[in-house]
Amino acid sequence: MPGFDIPANIVEQTRLAHSIFLLTVDAPAIMDSTDPGQFCMLEVQENNSKDPLLRRPLSIYKTGSNGQISFLYKAVGKGTRLLSKRRPGEIIRVLGPLGQGFRLIHDCTSILVGGGLGIASLLLLAQGIKQSGRLIILIGAKNAAEIPTVEDFSRLTRYFHVVTEDGSLGQRGMITDLLDQTLQEITGTARIYTCGPWSMMKAVYHMVSKRNIPCQVSLEAAMACGIGLCLGCAIPKSNSRGFLHVCQEGPVFDADQVHWGQNS
Ligand SMILES: Cc1cc2nc3c(=O)[nH]c(=O)nc-3n(C[C@H](O)[C@H](O)[C@H](O)COP(=O)(O)OP(=O)(O)OC[C@H]3O[C@@H](n4cnc5c(N)ncnc54)[C@H](O)[C@@H]3O)c2cc1C
Ligand code: FES
Repeated sequence: MPGFDIPANIVEQTRLAHSIFLLTVDAPAIMDSTDPGQFCMLEVQENNSKDPLLRRPLSIYKTGSNGQISFLYKAVGKGTRLLSKRRPGEIIRVLGPLGQGFRLIHDCTSILVGGGLGIASLLLLAQGIKQSGRLIILIGAKNAAEIPTVEDFSRLTRYFHVVTEDGSLGQRGMITDLLDQTLQEITGTARIYTCGPWSMMKAVYHMVSKRNIPCQVSLEAAMACGIGLCLGCAIPKSNSRGFLHVCQEGPVFDADQVHWGQNS
């Protein structure tokens, strides 16, 4: 069994915006072995209920030196809404860390592109890159409420830019415009790391592949087991020969491994 399946004490459950929460649990074993971009499967149901049966995957957003790990999540359906009702002092089972995270490449400019709550898988990566190289962080969202933790990122680098579609935070605009502008300005070799909505990551990949800039993407898929047993998280490979399993081979992939569908 990969990762640790532990009963974790809830330390904090904070509502940051309308449906966005920060959950912190005690999980020293998971904290000690987490790499940026990995995730956990969390049991969401209350008491002895078996509904919903399946755990929900969430990226590990933060780790603390005190053995705590935090998840930044949006309540979108039954599972995450139940999770948002769990309170400090309660115990939830957490399985992790799972999957293959980002591969850090040093000695180049690293550009992180986060869309909405896709930023949840990028903070540990940004902290790791900050130690060793030039870090540019670009974040985009529909509005300010979708990204309530941008200050966690802005304090890591002076090359930090945020755009929102309604102009409620940073410039008004689309993150792809911001990326285009950034790519025109940078010199030397660069790497892109991105997480966000599929359409955003697809657009990012197409923009940077034209310039031969390597790009890693963190993908989401419906997951039942999270550990490679059910094969439910399969997505097509770029060469149309078989599938990638997001929970085990991902969630982070080189973008050119992925079949992105027709260009639109
Ligand atoms: C590896 C991995 C890491 C993830 N990390 C995070 C994270 O850090 N933070 C986070 O908020 N989510 C994250 N997700 C997504 C999260 O797992 C889902 O939002 C959650 O499983 C939905 O469960 P649910 O029971 O609440 O909703 P469901 O009942 O399963 O779905 C309810 C409705 O919400 C829609 N929905 C499902 N997922 C999403 C989504 N991601 N965004 C918008 N609508 C959705 C469904 O299409 C459906 O209409 C991650 C997913 C994966 C695979
Ligand atoms: S979620 Fe079961 S194999 Fe990936």
